[in-house]
Amino acid sequence: MTDAIVVEGARKRYGDKQALDGLGLVVGGGTVHGLLGPNGAGKTTTVRILATLLRHDEGLVRVAGFDVRTHAADVRRRIGLLGQHAAVDEELGGRQNLEMFGRLHHLGARRAGARADELLERFGLADTGRKPVKRYSGGMRRRLDLAASLITEPAVLFLDEPTTGLDPRGRGEVWESVRSLVGGGTTVLLTTQYLEEADQLADRISVVDRGRVVADGTADELKARVGGDRIDVVLRDARRLDEATKLLPGSEVSVDRDRRRVSAPVTDRMAALAETVRALEAAGIEAEDIALRRPTLDEVFLHLTGGRDGHDGRDGRGQATEVAA
Ligand SMILES: Nc1ncnc2c1ncn2[C@@H]1O[C@H](COP(=O)(O)OP(=O)(O)OP(=O)(O)O)[C@@H](O)[C@H]1O
Ligand SMILES: [Mg+2]
Repeated sequence: MTDAIVVEGARKRYGDKQALDGLGLVVGGGTVHGLLGPNGAGKTTTVRILATLLRHDEGLVRVAGFDVRTHAADVRRRIGLLGQHAAVDEELGGRQNLEMFGRLHHLGARRAGARADELLERFGLADTGRKPVKRYSGGMRRRLDLAASLITEPAVLFLDEPTTGLDPRGRGEVWESVRSLVGGGTTVLLTTQYLEEADQLADRISVVDRGRVVADGTADELKARVGGDRIDVVLRDARRLDEATKLLPGSEVSVDRDRRRVSAPVTDRMAALAETVRALEAAGIEAEDIALRRPTLDEVFLHLTGGRDGHDGRDGRGQATEVAA
């Protein structure tokens, strides 16, 4: 299979809000592609257009080789969608839900049952298949949603923020499930606000901001674009963070108060290290840890989206990173 998804110059306007502003995207068959962006970036709009649930105003959009506008039925037969807010029947058990989805997709009773069992097994839900969904944990529910989106064995699967609202354990469970799909040749387009999620799952990542792709590449390529190494200093005393900020090299120093850490990009590693140690010592600021390291995707993201932090607190990671002026 060649490219599973091709989007060129896609535009979509809601009233006077330009949700997509010339978005472009190419996803190779059998790969996992991450669409990474803050709230309102246009991720769900893109997924809805690709899944033929919404019409775009301008641009070319092809899925599995078919134009979504002229061949919507052909596209629909080849895709699965896990929406941001998925719908399963709370009162029914996981198995009944999957059977029902199978029947809705015109599988015969026997085939729907067999497919349900197969998927429950695959996502580690076989033991709980009869328990009502309202008693499932968040991670179990999301895995059931994922199973439901795979009833029809789609060639292209859209996952819109599959782990938003899950605790770290639930998130890990869903990640495992997504990884298990990839071997089967399914192409996955995954939207996320979790940089770590894209880093963990995606072969390639497109960073979306204000309806456009502002950067794409592998996680490593994106990190490399932001520059080389960084220096991290963890202080003993959080009250001295602001002072320490002024001592680090360069003007792009960021502060993470929860972790009592200041961080800055460096060009000459050893010189920066020596200089920082000396400056902290001279100022009498005690460091708990000083380290040189590669940038994280969080820093890549802040860098690429111009330092605007799109997170609105929904992600619950409790580690706000602010960029010092
Ligand atoms: N039905 C709608 N009517 C009007 N504006 C809309 C509608 N749907 C989305 N928008 C706006 O379009 C922009 C893109 O929204 P979209 O839902 O695609 O973003 P998103 O990247 O999925 O964000 P989130 O991470 O919050 O899910 C936002 O500014 C949003 O407010
Ligand atoms: Mg969305």
